[in-house]
Amino acid sequence: MPEIAVDTRVNVWCLPLLWRLEGAGSASPSGAVAREGDDAALARMTAMLSPEERAVAAGFDSPDRRRSYVVAHALLRSILGRIAGVAPNELVFRYGQRGKPELAGPGQNLQFNMSHSRDVMLVAVAHGRRVGVDIEHTDEPGDVRRIAARFLSPRERDAIERLPADRQRDAFLRCWTRKEAYMKARGDGISRPLDDFEVGDPADAGRQPRLFKASGDPNEVERWELADVSAPRGFMAAIAVEGHGFEVVQHNEWTGDV
Ligand SMILES: CC(C)(COP(=O)(O)OP(=O)(O)OC[C@H]1O[C@@H](n2cnc3c(N)ncnc32)[C@H](O)[C@@H]1OP(=O)(O)O)[C@@H](O)C(=O)NCCC(=O)NCCS
Repeated sequence: MPEIAVDTRVNVWCLPLLWRLEGAGSASPSGAVAREGDDAALARMTAMLSPEERAVAAGFDSPDRRRSYVVAHALLRSILGRIAGVAPNELVFRYGQRGKPELAGPGQNLQFNMSHSRDVMLVAVAHGRRVGVDIEHTDEPGDVRRIAARFLSPRERDAIERLPADRQRDAFLRCWTRKEAYMKARGDGISRPLDDFEVGDPADAGRQPRLFKASGDPNEVERWELADVSAPRGFMAAIAVEGHGFEVVQHNEWTGDV
């Protein structure tokens, strides 16, 4: 497997979760998603997790959610372990005030963030700069106008409302994923008011998104870059990266061990 450079690159993986359960070891992501997993593969992945992660997995009532959690966390460990040069189960996570995971011990110079929606996971790994990612299924928000009214800034809301009804959902999600990626990069979670800052015009899919306004710190707008990430049909995704002069490299498969 080729070396994964994380110097000036921000590597992003967008991976379907459950195809791995079709068989042991590496598999092609082009294979169909396996709903009825392979118990041996799932047991092997569960063994890669910490006792805390296993306890979280055990707490899900839904078998699908439990499987997704286990596969996502095993993949995350596999990716981070490969980059840090240690076995996946040697990684130790610690958590920020609002729950953002980071590495303690091996790989602690790496920054990463993960998002999962249904059976797809997005993970970004960078060196020495904060990153945040978000992926959402386009069916997810029910009443887009109501949620936009509650969570977006007046300018973002107006931009969405000016669009024809059949484009509003995608525009809302584009805006939402950018905002959540930014908040996750900072580790804020959705504790921060979502109209406290603005991302690019969600009606303009072609233009590079950026942070337009962030109350509080005058340097914040210059500090971050935002980008939309290419995701499978039915999903929308975005990344926020601290600083400048990096390259985002996207991968749609993972051939390391899980
Ligand atoms: C972080 C948060 C936005 C995630 O939202 P989501 O859309 O449900 O989930 P996503 O799939 O995009 O991301 C989940 C992943 O983000 C990471 N994460 C968790 N908390 C995070 C935070 N504060 N910042 C960044 N990333 C975080 C984890 O890897 C998590 O994966 P896991 O749940 O499998 O462990 C949401 O859980 C949140 O707002 N948390 C903060 C809660 C808070 O403020 N608590 C106050 C404590 S004082």
